[in-house]
Amino acid sequence: MDKMEKAIQLLRAEFGEEWQKIVQSLGVQDLCSRCGKELTSFIAYPERGEGGSSKWRGNCSPKVVEAILKYVLDTKKYYRQDTSHFTLLDPMSGSGTSKTVADRFGVNSILYDLNPTPACGMGNWNALKNDVNDSADLIFFHPPYHDIIKYSGNMWGKPHEDDLSRCINYNDFIEKLNFVIKKLYISLRKDGRLAILVGDIRSNGEFHSIQSDMMKIGTPESFIVKGQYSCTSDSRRYNKPFIPIVTEYMVIFRKDNPLIIPFSWTRTGECDITKRDCQTLTWYHLIRSVMEQLGGTAELSQLYQMLENHPKARANIHYKERIRATLYEHKDTYIQTGNGQYRLNYTVV
Ligand SMILES: C[S@@+](CC[C@H](N)C(=O)[O-])C[C@H]1O[C@@H](n2cnc3c(N)ncnc32)[C@H](O)[C@@H]1O
Repeated sequence: MDKMEKAIQLLRAEFGEEWQKIVQSLGVQDLCSRCGKELTSFIAYPERGEGGSSKWRGNCSPKVVEAILKYVLDTKKYYRQDTSHFTLLDPMSGSGTSKTVADRFGVNSILYDLNPTPACGMGNWNALKNDVNDSADLIFFHPPYHDIIKYSGNMWGKPHEDDLSRCINYNDFIEKLNFVIKKLYISLRKDGRLAILVGDIRSNGEFHSIQSDMMKIGTPESFIVKGQYSCTSDSRRYNKPFIPIVTEYMVIFRKDNPLIIPFSWTRTGECDITKRDCQTLTWYHLIRSVMEQLGGTAELSQLYQMLENHPKARANIHYKERIRATLYEHKDTYIQTGNGQYRLNYTVV
């Protein structure tokens, strides 16, 4: 029996099925608490804690809200700022996790949700249509992760067209998410924090990183990686090779200036390298890529034909000589298989 198995047996004998949570907590203790700080750039809560409901799909641990709320309150106290009117706003409150935490800390809380009958707070509040008629020092924003868990028509009521979990596609989701992020940032008070909890997803076989695609706003304060526990997908078995998602992120933005809003967002696009030239595209990789597209082999005449209108060829009347020279200069990559016929030195998938 190896050491690991022996340790599991001993722990199981002493603590029963709880042994796993104990080990998980011990394993992350060092990362979660460093230099005397309780909130670091890595958080993990194997034990969910009390508040909200673990039955509400996609709920978050109250310990996440607790960690950020405590940090913001402590920071305010450190700088001797008044916290008597401190307000926490959760605009997509789900099972009401934030309310329990705010009550525990004795701070004012405002909760909204599109759900007409939420666990607490104001129902029927639509982030895409309704105004935020409040302001807050901390906004804890935990939106649906695109369509991973559907809320309307599943967790509550009938399908709702403005439910962020029912967007027509991922781009539509990001556009709507950005709209809500802007709306929430505007409703922050000066020195307030917008803490957004989001995850990466795999939807219809495509990987998307919400935190990287969503807009960034205000002054970035921290990017926190959170370990995920007890996900529905944990118990499924998959045959295809892929990298399972076991983390999510809490991104924190601060409002330093009530009138000037710094922002940035991700630009996406496509570049057809057979039509566009750029500094990083060499003849070597251009020819190699064209040959990959052809299945790994090519005749000189095909390369001439496919590249004659490329900007590199248009700028060089001797482009055919350039192609031949490139093949010659990289004989190891382009293996000559006949007169004017070449193959790549690796198999193309
Ligand atoms: C991930 S859950 C929040 C879970 C919550 N943090 C908890 O611990 O229970 C997301 C919530 O967003 C709500 N929602 C979706 N679209 C919305 C919209 N357009 N306006 C307001 N709330 C919306 C859903 O009803 C759902 O309750």
